Amino acid sequence: MAMTGDIYKLMTTEDMLQGHAELCIHAYGFVKSMALKCAIELGIPGAIHSNGGGATLGELASRIALPPSRLPRLRRLMRVLTVSSVFSIHYRQPDSADGGAAVYGLTRASRLLVGDETSPGLSHLVSLMLDPNLAAPFSGMSSWFMDERPRSIFEMHHGEDIWGVAARDVALSRSVGDGMDCDSRFVMEVLLREGLGREVFSGVGSLVDVGGGTGAVARGIAAAFPNVECSVLELPHVIAEAPADGDVRFVAGDMFEYIPPADAVLLKSVMHDWRDDECVKILQKCKEAIPSKDAGGKVIIINMVVGLGTSQDNNRKEAQGLYDLFLMVIEGGEREEDEWEKIFLEAGFSGYKIIPVLGIRSIIEVYP
Ligand SMILES: C[S@@+](CC[C@H](N)C(=O)[O-])C[C@H]1O[C@@H](n2cnc3c(N)ncnc32)[C@H](O)[C@@H]1O
Repeated sequence: MAMTGDIYKLMTTEDMLQGHAELCIHAYGFVKSMALKCAIELGIPGAIHSNGGGATLGELASRIALPPSRLPRLRRLMRVLTVSSVFSIHYRQPDSADGGAAVYGLTRASRLLVGDETSPGLSHLVSLMLDPNLAAPFSGMSSWFMDERPRSIFEMHHGEDIWGVAARDVALSRSVGDGMDCDSRFVMEVLLREGLGREVFSGVGSLVDVGGGTGAVARGIAAAFPNVECSVLELPHVIAEAPADGDVRFVAGDMFEYIPPADAVLLKSVMHDWRDDECVKILQKCKEAIPSKDAGGKVIIINMVVGLGTSQDNNRKEAQGLYDLFLMVIEGGEREEDEWEKIFLEAGFSGYKIIPVLGIRSIIEVYP
């Protein structure tokens, strides 16, 4: 049997030391996540923005009302967040009034975390991704792999699936609702800004957004395409939180039981929450709700097609892989094209079209 020392003997000293640094980066990845969560909760992106787009440590501390004794720790937090490109850093001239102080700025990632009166940016989405209810079960992932009982990692940890817990736990329900609401506004902004929605929504007379949360997408479609009659089908506890709205009809129900009739059914960020057999059932209910292809019937899915997308290649591969593994906690997952095709055919659909225009995500039109 090889001794540990023998493993080391197979490596150069340079490889051992580089490997050690790489292991630190992988193992402390969660520290990076927690630093991001901390920055959002302290309001650092907004503080930099309202300081004119750049702030020294002192300026940041005063904007977020940090106790003075914590100032040296704030520098350490910002060091991790600049190394990981959440924030930028540059230095003022040494002869300036504050003698070459570091100035922290926003990057394209942290700019998305700046909220205003009309929108929280994507901060609530990132908070949902880091919600302890979802993050904590990951520490039991290896036990789950070795245990064949038909339950998700989330169920193994909480004793119930996410929708059951969310129905009782107002904080988790709000975390899902607020996170998905800001994601929906983000997607609508991109869709409408680039005129991409025209191809998908023009010609649709009525649309039901299934699992449509508190209605952000439906409201966006109703506002941009006044000819489309929009409704949302959701679980009763979600409908109870939805803001009253004249343009969108809310229907409380269960997508596994019944979907109200419409020309088109929209499923945004829904299918990746479910196993293949469950997706087939949802799609069969969608098929009952829409007219034939010739009469304009279609299902519109907004989700990932793993391997496709418009984001830069390396970012796309890593973001899609991480998203997929994240969803494994609730027995969901992202799908490659052939996996999508299989469930479409099994649910009785005749064809589909992928429109990969949403960064790491795509729009998929599915035809009866
Ligand atoms: C990940 S969220 C997506 C919300 C919304 N489509 C969006 O992208 O903002 C999934 C939604 O599916 C809803 N949902 C879960 N089970 C459902 C069911 N059986 N019938 C209807 N909606 C359901 C949840 O309440 C939740 O709002």
